Amino acid sequence: MKKLLLFVTLLSFFISSFAVTITMTAGAVGKELELTNIQIQRFMEENPDINVQILPMPNSSTARHDLYVTYLASGTPDPVVLMLDVVWPAEFAPFLVDLKPDYDYFGFDGFLEGTIKSNVVDDKIVAAPWFTDAGFMYYRKDLLEKYGYDAPNTWNELYNIAKDISENEFIDGFVWQGAKYEGLTCDVMEFVHSFGGEIIDNGKVVVDNAENYDKTVAALKFMKKLIDDGVTPKGVTTYMEEEARRQFQNGNAVFMRNWPYAWPLANASDSPVKGKVGIVPVPMGDNGRHSATLGGWNLGINKNSSKAQIDAAKKLVKYLTAYDQQVERATYAGQNPTMKSAYSDAKIKEEAPFVVDLYDVFISAEPRPVTAVYSEVSDAIQRYTYGVLTGQYKAEDAVTRMAKELKQIVGN
Ligand code: GLC
Repeated sequence: MKKLLLFVTLLSFFISSFAVTITMTAGAVGKELELTNIQIQRFMEENPDINVQILPMPNSSTARHDLYVTYLASGTPDPVVLMLDVVWPAEFAPFLVDLKPDYDYFGFDGFLEGTIKSNVVDDKIVAAPWFTDAGFMYYRKDLLEKYGYDAPNTWNELYNIAKDISENEFIDGFVWQGAKYEGLTCDVMEFVHSFGGEIIDNGKVVVDNAENYDKTVAALKFMKKLIDDGVTPKGVTTYMEEEARRQFQNGNAVFMRNWPYAWPLANASDSPVKGKVGIVPVPMGDNGRHSATLGGWNLGINKNSSKAQIDAAKKLVKYLTAYDQQVERATYAGQNPTMKSAYSDAKIKEEAPFVVDLYDVFISAEPRPVTAVYSEVSDAIQRYTYGVLTGQYKAEDAVTRMAKELKQIVGN
């Protein structure tokens, strides 16, 4: 027995002296951090020579972005693995390891084409697609049934249903993301697209064209009307995803715009709205279309990390993006697969049927403007629309000013 103990101690000492430590940034929205910890624990058990330390990040994508700028610009080897929003590859590409030479190792052939494409910068693949997101409309099935309504297809229908039910039930009508951060850009893009407008097309600012100006103004006016008429609470201008989700999950709202991560939480055993929630595509405006903003996160590796760290990081990224972990992430944390085959997985179909039923929404989700100066573009979109929501600008003025500033930023 003593000999065995000595052997085990020596073995672990031997392994730890060769162990490499890597740091990884991770989000903590909903259940994602809980799951990341579980998966990383398993990974370390299978790879005793790799020690992974998690650096939890703030919920706001904008706040994460600003931290990354600080980390990466300073040239430090940490964090080694970076969780990257879909809108950042172009900006952070110069700091990331090219994964293209490892295309087969990561099995990128089995990934949804769009998720790989969004990580291609100058013919390099700068990150591995981890999970994909699309905006959806959550609604209270039980309440719509009680008042005799079908799920809405248009914004006008949503407005009327939300107003009626919220006034009779003394709850909020419709909650969404109205704080000044990246989530507002995502919501605004859905409103604008669903009214048939566009802000930037193919790198060109088009929001003040004859074709788009009126539609964009109409979209912003509708957002403001929701607040003015009390369908959306005034506090929405401080809401990010989690604030909206808590409100809806506690039974205090009829509708919620959110990402799929809210599904397992709304249906958890202790959720007041368990089994009472339905999901439909985001409604359309007059003459518009259904539109979901494309979201999602990728895993990139810091170019300034050591060779041993980069090798270990590749193993970790391969593990976290492998089929089993993706299915587990979809069912446990509502963060959906970037791997095609996972969409026919029986467990996902059983636990989150909307993921399979509304697969088209994931596939046709619309990207935010694609540009290397995305952060500045998004900041301008947020600033002017936030100004409309808070009564600082009239929608017409906001769109005119936004167009002018965007032209300065993208240079046309
Ligand atoms: C979600 C999306 C991400 C988006 C963010 C905005 O995390 O996946 O792409 O930028 O929400 O809040």
